[in-house]
Amino acid sequence: MIPALLRPLAAAAAATVDPDADVDALVPTNNPANGDYQWNFAFRMAKARRENPRALAERLLPFFVGRPGVAKAEVAGPGFLNLYLDDTWLAQALVAQAGDAAFGLPQSGAGKLAIIDFSSPNVAKRMHVGHMRSTHLGHVLSLVHRAAGWTVIGDNHIGDWGTPFGKLIVAWDHWRDQRGYDADPVGELERLYVLFGEKSEAKEGAGVHLADRARDETAKLQRGDPRNTSLWEQFRTASLAEYDAVYARMGVRFEEVLGESAYGGMTDAVIDGLLAAGVAEESDGAVIVRLGEQVSVVRKKDGAATYTATDLACVKYRMERWNPTKMVYVTDGRQHQHFMTFFAVAARDNVAAELVHMGFGMLKLPDGAMSTRKGNVIRLVELLDEAVARARAIVDEKSGTLDEAERASIAEAVGVGAVRYQDLVQSPGTDITFDWDRMLAMDGNSAPYLLYTRARAASLLRKAAAAGHTPDLDALTLDHPRERELALAMLRFPEAVESALRATAPNLVAEATYRLCEAFNRFFHELHVLTGGDRLASRLALTFTADRLLVRALRLLGLVPLDRM
Ligand code: ARG
Repeated sequence: MIPALLRPLAAAAAATVDPDADVDALVPTNNPANGDYQWNFAFRMAKARRENPRALAERLLPFFVGRPGVAKAEVAGPGFLNLYLDDTWLAQALVAQAGDAAFGLPQSGAGKLAIIDFSSPNVAKRMHVGHMRSTHLGHVLSLVHRAAGWTVIGDNHIGDWGTPFGKLIVAWDHWRDQRGYDADPVGELERLYVLFGEKSEAKEGAGVHLADRARDETAKLQRGDPRNTSLWEQFRTASLAEYDAVYARMGVRFEEVLGESAYGGMTDAVIDGLLAAGVAEESDGAVIVRLGEQVSVVRKKDGAATYTATDLACVKYRMERWNPTKMVYVTDGRQHQHFMTFFAVAARDNVAAELVHMGFGMLKLPDGAMSTRKGNVIRLVELLDEAVARARAIVDEKSGTLDEAERASIAEAVGVGAVRYQDLVQSPGTDITFDWDRMLAMDGNSAPYLLYTRARAASLLRKAAAAGHTPDLDALTLDHPRERELALAMLRFPEAVESALRATAPNLVAEATYRLCEAFNRFFHELHVLTGGDRLASRLALTFTADRLLVRALRLLGLVPLDRM
């Protein structure tokens, strides 16, 4: 709403200086003394043009002064334009936003399709925290794209092909513990995989023999050998069942689960195509693509297709099947080089979609906080259970009057939400440390705080209803600075979502939601809605719009809004 008001004014002003000027740099201010938005265009341009920035700013000022919606515009500091929005205009914009199905978010994705490749654990192994982060970030990215009108295909590109299966089959035949498998299939498969590694590392005798056998079993599987195929299917199904239990708890769904195996039969043709097109070349028995100084191997000497070759086959398949505008791959930042190389080869191969790698930092688990094996391998279900148990203790303490079933569902939403939110709130690139206390804090930038704020709004609306007051948006006006702040935080929310889309940064949505909550809480504490006298109707309308938007914002973050807490 606000950009729709200010951008055209800025564009008209900028065009008198430079027709190609970038007017996006209209930024919301944090200090109301500097207006609601600030434009530093004159300051930037004057430098480049060796003009006096304040003089240039004065020349641009008339484009804003006296315009509908703009209460005041002034030149400030070394050449900034400070813009103050009109209260009546803000109130009307807010009512319009409340009535918009997309809460004022421009539908920039209408008619476009995005594929979000996320979660993607490796079959027969536990999901590790990296996959958990990918699941949370990819899920929110999908929701954010959908909100902006995109059609989204969420694709779980599981690792379900290649040499690990030959090893597993050999280990299965030698050492399987059937009872262990029946009780905990993925745990047993993981044990077998680790055991294979240990035994085959012995260089002499059995070690060599095991490694050869594993290679044979992999080759047999890839040729479609019935026994190996059926074992592979069994391992895959058991793993997916475990993953699905985690996804269900996190409210995550995928449109497709096309793992690496789906492309097993396509890599040869893709590599041959690259060779025929002169993109790839043979080198020392392998097939490579030269990228400047770098070399990307697509087929190894032993004839096996690489991870890159699989991704190339996959990207071609997706182009043919969905013709997406963009594809976002959400993985650990350590795979960045792989994606940069693969994107470069794909570009040579005329893949037209925009390819984005969203890499994220590590999540460090504090020592002893939970059972970890081999560094970061944890059972995600256990982690969620622990979070829910901790949330339950807080709920029991704070809301002892609610019945058992409601306390349980609140604890589930708070616990799972807390784990999710700590992944979302940081800028994706940074490493984070798992911190139960911070994650579950009732104040501070945490899921419980956000959920509690919304529950507070809902409770206020219930009390109003009980007293016979129904919210009426026509009554909404802005009178007090706390009301105005809340209105601005709401109107800026869709702008933050747009930025999150542009920058592939879900943390910007988290940040805007947190600001929204802070503004709501200040409003709530300082102004008494139900005893507001002649301001009651307006403040109730404001609370109502805030409540609606909070629900949307929480859902966008994959959190489950609560009516009470
Ligand atoms: N399975 C991989 C891993 O666990 C991630 C796959 C990411 N997606 C892709 N298209 N390469 O590291």
